[in-house]
Amino acid sequence: MSKQKNDPTQLISSRSLGMSISAIKEMSILSAKIPGAASLAWGLPSFPTPEPIRLAVAQALEDNARIGMYTLPGGLPELCTTAAQEHQRRTGIQTDPVRNVMITAGNMEGLNTLFHVIVDPGDEVIVTDPGFVSHIQQIRFNGGTPVFWKMDEARGWQLDIDALPSLIGPCTKAIILVSPSNPTGSILTEETLRAVAAIAKKHGLLIILDDPYSHFTYENHDRFFNLAAVPEYADNIAYLFTFSKAYAMSGWRVGYMVVPAALKNEIVKIHDLTMICTPHISQVAALAALAAEPLHLTEFQIALGRRRALICERLDRLVHVFQYVPPEGAYYVFPRIVAEHENAVEFSHHLLDDLRVTVTPGSAFGPSGEHHVRMAYCVEDDTINIAFDRLDTYFGT
Ligand SMILES: Cc1ncc(COP(=O)(O)O)c(C=O)c1O
Repeated sequence: MSKQKNDPTQLISSRSLGMSISAIKEMSILSAKIPGAASLAWGLPSFPTPEPIRLAVAQALEDNARIGMYTLPGGLPELCTTAAQEHQRRTGIQTDPVRNVMITAGNMEGLNTLFHVIVDPGDEVIVTDPGFVSHIQQIRFNGGTPVFWKMDEARGWQLDIDALPSLIGPCTKAIILVSPSNPTGSILTEETLRAVAAIAKKHGLLIILDDPYSHFTYENHDRFFNLAAVPEYADNIAYLFTFSKAYAMSGWRVGYMVVPAALKNEIVKIHDLTMICTPHISQVAALAALAAEPLHLTEFQIALGRRRALICERLDRLVHVFQYVPPEGAYYVFPRIVAEHENAVEFSHHLLDDLRVTVTPGSAFGPSGEHHVRMAYCVEDDTINIAFDRLDTYFGT
């Protein structure tokens, strides 16, 4: 068929047309158009970036004549060194800042770059079901196929390790994990993680640990296990840490990744093609974040722990609408809808249009998320209360 002249839509690639905007952002965009909507849709913590980081950046803007310039694509050498030290402090694993560490513009960019590097058309990446929406989309955008590994809601959204080998085939490249999980809030057990690593190593797969939330565990902190701390799997693991959540720096767009040396140069190459470098100013902010005692973390954990208790208490009053697994970490809860409804999308739009309450439809997170919604409780206590007051009024308690 010949192209219509002067119709720019004709220019759009089928690859782009095949993608849809993340349901989290879609709901947030719709929510922003509804005055007074109480949004639990976006995992955007209510905290400002801690003061020592802001002050260090203000000072650097005065003193550092290079702050407005590009850095090398892999990141400021001093930040790579500091990130390697931080990784060693947190995991005990020694890494080489040049051969293993890469500064990213946050985990989203780091993951997209990594998928560019490892995914050929037709390759498969195993994702948890439910799992983070953007992982699914990024794999597809890079020509790959996400293979869903079902989490068991009845067992607190844990993974069935016996099911993993049957998901691995000749095209499998990697397994991506998030613990504590977005969207379920579950913490994967050490036993599961070690078993995944043993299977991945046997099949030569990369384990991608996407870590925005490991600082957000509560009374159950001892249940959290960082697989990146196991030396024998270091060559099979790409570990991505982001400053977005733990340091309330989501708008700065900065993180770091620790990767097998064999992948590092490829990652630098693709990162350079995408954005040349992580913004210099954000790298300075990340250096300041790692230099300061993370005193803000206790404050964040107390506030999030309180909001977790609040949202659970409010959900408990609506047992005829939602049934949920108590979240262990991060700041999400993923209740099943037990009130009458058609599907998660229809239900979420109904809550927004008729109650001015914004949630994310669970079906966006994978097939097992159908008939669920994700609620983020990182917002102000008031927002949680307003949203649930509206739900109480509509559904009755
Ligand atoms: C699992 C997961 N990965 C990545 C991201 C994005 O992180 P960043 O801001 O570092 O791109 C998020 C943000 O919500 C997330 O939940």
